[in-house]
Amino acid sequence: MGIEIRNVSKQFGNFQALADVSLDIEAGELVALLGPSGCGKTTLLRIIAGLETPDQGSILFSGEDTTDVHVRERGVGFVFQHYALFRHMTVFENVAFGLRVKPRSVRPSEAQIKEKVHSLLGLVQLDWLADRFPSQLSGGQRQRIALARALAVEPKVLLLDEPFGALDAKVRKELRRWLRRLHDDLHVTSIFVTHDQEEALEVADRVVLMNAGKVEQIGSPQEVWDHPASPFVYGFLGDVNLFHGRAHEGEIQLDGMKLDSPEHSGAQNAKAFAYVRPHDFEVARYAPGADGIVATLDRAIVIGPIARLELIPVDAPKPSAESLIEAQMPSQKFRDMGLKEGDKLVLTPRKARVFVDAGEGI
Ligand SMILES: Nc1ncnc2c1ncn2[C@@H]1O[C@H](COP(=O)(O)OP(=O)(O)O)[C@@H](O)[C@H]1O
Ligand SMILES: [Mg+2]
Repeated sequence: MGIEIRNVSKQFGNFQALADVSLDIEAGELVALLGPSGCGKTTLLRIIAGLETPDQGSILFSGEDTTDVHVRERGVGFVFQHYALFRHMTVFENVAFGLRVKPRSVRPSEAQIKEKVHSLLGLVQLDWLADRFPSQLSGGQRQRIALARALAVEPKVLLLDEPFGALDAKVRKELRRWLRRLHDDLHVTSIFVTHDQEEALEVADRVVLMNAGKVEQIGSPQEVWDHPASPFVYGFLGDVNLFHGRAHEGEIQLDGMKLDSPEHSGAQNAKAFAYVRPHDFEVARYAPGADGIVATLDRAIVIGPIARLELIPVDAPKPSAESLIEAQMPSQKFRDMGLKEGDKLVLTPRKARVFVDAGEGI
């Protein structure tokens, strides 16, 4: 079932939690809502579910306005970060719950319930836990059971709000792969909320980047990574170094370096920002006349295949967290070059992403 979100706004007191959000989700898609804490992800999810009413705008399910459709009639299944299972019920009874509370006329028989619950437990690969109580399960197992419970009533839409947020990194990784496979089997239209960019990029068909109640960009993981629409998106999707400067007729002058940026050939002395990812720096030993940012190696973390360098530009007014530059290189290369802390190096970006402030200039 497709979902259309049309110009949805929501205010709490004076606070604008959502500002004119529009979004189309296709039937069978898995879409991630990604953004920092407080940007409105949960509010949007609750509005889609019917747990919250928007001040403006509407939600359509399969083209039908849902404004007057009650939560129970919307056919949505939920999994929340802390949506505890019923502690006094076995795993089996937890999953059966949604079926047992159906009106008598549509309630399945006991035999049908048994078959359905076991097939769902098979689907989440935990059939062997049917007789356990939630307290006897690991966090990851509990979330898989919560998902089986949500699927029991055959929802048309599955809403997942940071379902793996409380789990440790290794289990999270396993569960996100598992969720992706499950979605490929079932194709239930799903919205997955997370503030973890890696999780969103790995799991989703499309990613919706949100910031301060607005949608910043919508696209496939590849699109948003390769073509971030705004400085916010670029910064949110990975580690970046930010440089300030000015753009003039296709040339960007930044503190310590010059970049060509043909797509900004029209810029007339406009304010510009350049973003460089740590792995996009070429790192060399300093030699007089070198072109690039001259910096001192303050700290090197050489663990595993990647050496992470923290550098302080030599012309920084005063060393601070803000002036610190992060660069990365293969650990092997770091060792081959014989680098050590205190060395003077020169950094040249192989790739930079430049944003020009269009409102400024001349
Ligand atoms: N019921 C509420 N009353 C007042 N403020 C709320 C309410 N729900 C959410 N907010 C505020 O709206 C903003 C967005 O919240 P939320 O949608 O939960 O963000 P996210 O899920 O992206 O972290 C937050 O600043 C939050 O404090
Ligand atoms: Mg939230």
